[in-house]
Amino acid sequence: MSALFSPYALGALPLRNRIVIAPMCQYSAENGNAGDWHMIHLGQLALSGAGLLIIEATAVEEIGRITHGDLGLYTDDNEAALARVLKAIRRHSRIPVAIQLGHAGRKASSHVPWEGGQCLTPAEGAWQTVAPSALPHAPGEPLPVALDAAGLARVKSAFVRAAQRADALGLDAIELHAAHGYLLHQFLSPIANQRADAYGGSLESRMRFPLEVFDAVRAAVPGRVPVGVRISATDWVEGGWDVEQSIAFGKALAQRGCSFMHVSSGGVSPQQKIPIGPGYQVPLAEQVKRGAGLPTVAVGLVTEPAQAEAIVASGEADLVAVARAILFEPHWPWRAAAELGAQVEAPPQYWRSQPRELKALFGDARIGQR
Ligand SMILES: Cc1cc2nc3c(=O)[nH]c(=O)nc-3n(C[C@H](O)[C@H](O)[C@H](O)COP(=O)(O)O)c2cc1C
Repeated sequence: MSALFSPYALGALPLRNRIVIAPMCQYSAENGNAGDWHMIHLGQLALSGAGLLIIEATAVEEIGRITHGDLGLYTDDNEAALARVLKAIRRHSRIPVAIQLGHAGRKASSHVPWEGGQCLTPAEGAWQTVAPSALPHAPGEPLPVALDAAGLARVKSAFVRAAQRADALGLDAIELHAAHGYLLHQFLSPIANQRADAYGGSLESRMRFPLEVFDAVRAAVPGRVPVGVRISATDWVEGGWDVEQSIAFGKALAQRGCSFMHVSSGGVSPQQKIPIGPGYQVPLAEQVKRGAGLPTVAVGLVTEPAQAEAIVASGEADLVAVARAILFEPHWPWRAAAELGAQVEAPPQYWRSQPRELKALFGDARIGQR
């Protein structure tokens, strides 16, 4: 029996296996609207046989977009555009679909990565960014405006409104983006948060706004919708956010009904020194899981099925997310099932692709037939 292909319950949401498709920005939306690219991209991933598909970081307000091409969920048009994509996915796949809701804060107003990712100039349509403190992400970059009480209230209600739209769309789960140096992470990290009010200073105060956002979102959607949080477990900078603080954050989230933690790292400072290597963030996931006692997703250079199997079998994490490897090989879970002697769901149109020696690979596929 493969651990990776054993079922799991994320709160009230049943998953067919432990493979999660990590959120991946496509920078291909127009005015926040999903388009044909999303139909093709998410459609392809929906046929992968993974246990959960998480839609890319989706901005809760216009100025929360990293680039002009970010997906958004802040207008009726955004909601309708995503509904079109989801309708097609639901016709052809039973994969549960989650969405990552986020706000880029001081890392907003940038070029798409394939144009260099640098800050936009006014001529290129730059906008005023916001953050916990008026500190730039990197020296020389435009200063963000520190959010005042009205700004905090606006951002919180934007998260709530987007979560309500996600629920109205029938999305199966919500992940709040509190990682990679974006707004909620900026509040957590002493590197980006130097406020002197109730939202900065001590760990408790730095956690206050992200926890308020979590509470508001949790209260805004039905209990059957799992709400989890993606964190950067460490800034990889001396004196920054670290694993111990992540565990404290996880414990606070657990008390509030958080359904899972998705453990990544880095992104808040150009000073970071990341020891990149296979599964380099898995030990962080394990520490957060043990310390906070929440269902945990490990992610980061997990590329081989045996590696993913070992992570789940050893209990280091409950779920394993894959990003780049599944872009490279969209049927990665099929190969994983083949290598681990497990079964995976595939669309009937593709059943004839099952290799002769792997007759049982799509064994339960008929169960999934609509
Ligand atoms: C194209 C691309 C887009 C990404 N966009 C997001 C995103 O929207 N939200 C997020 O939290 N992480 C994002 N990431 C990070 C991935 O979710 C993942 O954590 C990271 O790539 C490490 O996993 P991997 O080694 O399996 O690729 C992105 C990564 C890639 C390659």
